[in-house]
Amino acid sequence: MTATKGLEGIVAAKSSISSIIDGVLTYQGINIDELAEKASFEEVAYLLWHGKLPTQSELDALIAQFGEYASIPSQVIDGLRLYPKGANSMAALRTAISSLALYDSEANDMSTEANYRKAVKLQAQLPTVVAAFARIREGKEPVAPKKGLSIAHNFLYMLTSEEPAEVAIEAMDKALVLHADHELNASTFAARVTVATLSDIYSGVTSAIGALKGPLHGGANEAVMVMLDEIGTLANVEPYIQNKLNNKEKVMGFGHRVYKNGDPRAKHLMQMSRQLGELKGDMTLYEMSIKIEDLITGQKGLKPNVDFYSASCYTMLGIPRDLFTPIFAISRVSGWSAHILEQYQDNRLIRPRAEYVGPVDQHYVPIAQR
Ligand code: ACO
Repeated sequence: MTATKGLEGIVAAKSSISSIIDGVLTYQGINIDELAEKASFEEVAYLLWHGKLPTQSELDALIAQFGEYASIPSQVIDGLRLYPKGANSMAALRTAISSLALYDSEANDMSTEANYRKAVKLQAQLPTVVAAFARIREGKEPVAPKKGLSIAHNFLYMLTSEEPAEVAIEAMDKALVLHADHELNASTFAARVTVATLSDIYSGVTSAIGALKGPLHGGANEAVMVMLDEIGTLANVEPYIQNKLNNKEKVMGFGHRVYKNGDPRAKHLMQMSRQLGELKGDMTLYEMSIKIEDLITGQKGLKPNVDFYSASCYTMLGIPRDLFTPIFAISRVSGWSAHILEQYQDNRLIRPRAEYVGPVDQHYVPIAQR
């Protein structure tokens, strides 16, 4: 038995939700480029869950369901108020989402209907949790979700208590579409492993949030913004990046396990970053990002991934940097739950083996003789 480090190249599941073939990402066979231009996030969530795009009435029904489920139990809000000042936003999200299960009477109902309902509930409630956390830590009251709004619109509204600009809603919606699913990425795999024990969907999503938090996965978008803040000016890009490369440090937002010729989602976020910069009349973050890309791609051949340009986009939308990864989760919960439902449909416990490299032929030594 020989292990493959990081399971690289191992095909661990069959799935009909999304695919990456020859560097092209599709959701249910539809190219992400087409979806990024034309689809709303709600259409994409429906597509991932049902395997087809919704009709108008199916879409209206889903948006109505999101509206119905978007409020979170008062006990979960009370819990958010008890978190320590300065709590890590992904740790807070992981805890709050786990606690939602305590107040859902069908949390352990494993029927197909109940599991689908919980997928819709989680999608509806994640934005409410993130917005409530962000407001409570600033000493503000959470804003209740409004019925009939898109997820992107409602999230920005709950975050600020103000009606967001159309351009902000569109940008957020596109970002959600681009992050919704990505084959067997680390967090999705974590979710599938958890529910393959026939544990519940809340446990699966909680595992996934824990995996997404890490800077080698979703946490990279926040780390990119930390880097942009540290660099500060266009003139400082070259010495800063050169120093990182000389020290053989990783540059966050670059590289990918699967894409070696570039992440197809990055170009959409790059365009969005440019457009938001033009609208703001401040191209600094966009220009810094372009320069970083030139240097990293030029010297290391590494291309930006989905996290790189999302950092400048979210910042230009006025979003605090530690909410970037929670926003990733707001989108990816659609994919996580689609994979969880798929896992339940044809389940087998996921239990691989390890290549043992430890000592052999050892014996117990009495404590006095050690
Ligand atoms: N900066 C500098 N060098 C890099 C980077 C980077 N961002 N990414 C990979 N490399 C180098 C590695 O140092 C390694 O070089 P070596 O062979 O000389 O040791 C080589 O490229 C291969 O890198 P690995 O880390 O082994 O590649 P792996 O497939 O395991 O990792 C990963 C992929 C985790 C995405 C990696 O590229 C990375 O750490 N990137 C930065 C973090 C990041 O942006 N993560 C977000 C990914 S997208 C997502 O999850 C949403």
